[in-house]
Amino acid sequence: MIYSSLLKNLLVKLDIIVYKKWNNQPLISKPIANKQKYYDLWKEASLKNNPEVTEFEKNTGYKIENEWLNNLALRTQIVVKESQLNYAHGKVLYSALREYISKNISKLQNVTILETGTARGFSSLCMAKAMDDSDISGSILTFDVLPHKKKIFWNCITDHTDGPLSRQELLEPWDNLVGKYIIFHQGYSIIELKKLGLKRINFAFLDGAHTYKDVFFEFNIIKESQKKGDVIVFDDYNEKLFPGIVKAVNEICNKFGYQKNLIKSFDNRSYVVAKKN
Ligand SMILES: C[S@@+](CC[C@H](N)C(=O)[O-])C[C@H]1O[C@@H](n2cnc3c(N)ncnc32)[C@H](O)[C@@H]1O
Repeated sequence: MIYSSLLKNLLVKLDIIVYKKWNNQPLISKPIANKQKYYDLWKEASLKNNPEVTEFEKNTGYKIENEWLNNLALRTQIVVKESQLNYAHGKVLYSALREYISKNISKLQNVTILETGTARGFSSLCMAKAMDDSDISGSILTFDVLPHKKKIFWNCITDHTDGPLSRQELLEPWDNLVGKYIIFHQGYSIIELKKLGLKRINFAFLDGAHTYKDVFFEFNIIKESQKKGDVIVFDDYNEKLFPGIVKAVNEICNKFGYQKNLIKSFDNRSYVVAKKN
């Protein structure tokens, strides 16, 4: 009894130590660009063309509203970084989820979605929009090591004008969708996912840790709760940058009976929409 109480106290202290770096300005320590810079990057990114993504949208019969997507992207995707900005995964997620719901609506009471890698909340909100536009209830459980209620600089347009914001504050313009669908959870997926007790995971988006071990671990949790037709979307299927993701996705599709739909983007940032046979 004393032993387990000591261990519990140790765990509480360890938790504080482990997450200290994520709770204290984990991305940038001060604003690194002004509002105009983010607007310029936004304009450039919004003009990018992704023919395979457009084709995917056409095939599903669903396309996210451009203006809504671009407005969300301005706060949650437009950052100063070396690689090209590309938020086409929001389009893929929206179309894939709407198609999934429309094909399964007669069998569904609600939809449960699991996501790893929340970041600023962009992908969670694209999926929430798909649920809302489909007029279906459900939940999106999203995991990230980043905190939800701590004020941080996000390397985004609000840094310069509003100072540090919590993710909750950053996403205030979309409060209705957040409140209706999204549950944010801070923690390493490899530790937190095994504590979940979900009977069904209809749809998942894996965009957190980009290693073979983490992706496979996340998949092993999800696979127990999926049925025929359920979907997992993988981001960054790129042999050169993320060989671990490519290896994990190929193994998952080949050995566990998932049909693989590969969608390439202009910067070779491919996405895989995997559907359970
Ligand atoms: C590429 S970003 C996700 C982008 C986001 N899905 C979007 O659409 O904006 C990856 C995120 O995963 C988080 N992350 C990395 N490793 C993680 C892990 N092991 N567990 C939970 N989150 C992790 C990072 O903190 C980061 O915010």
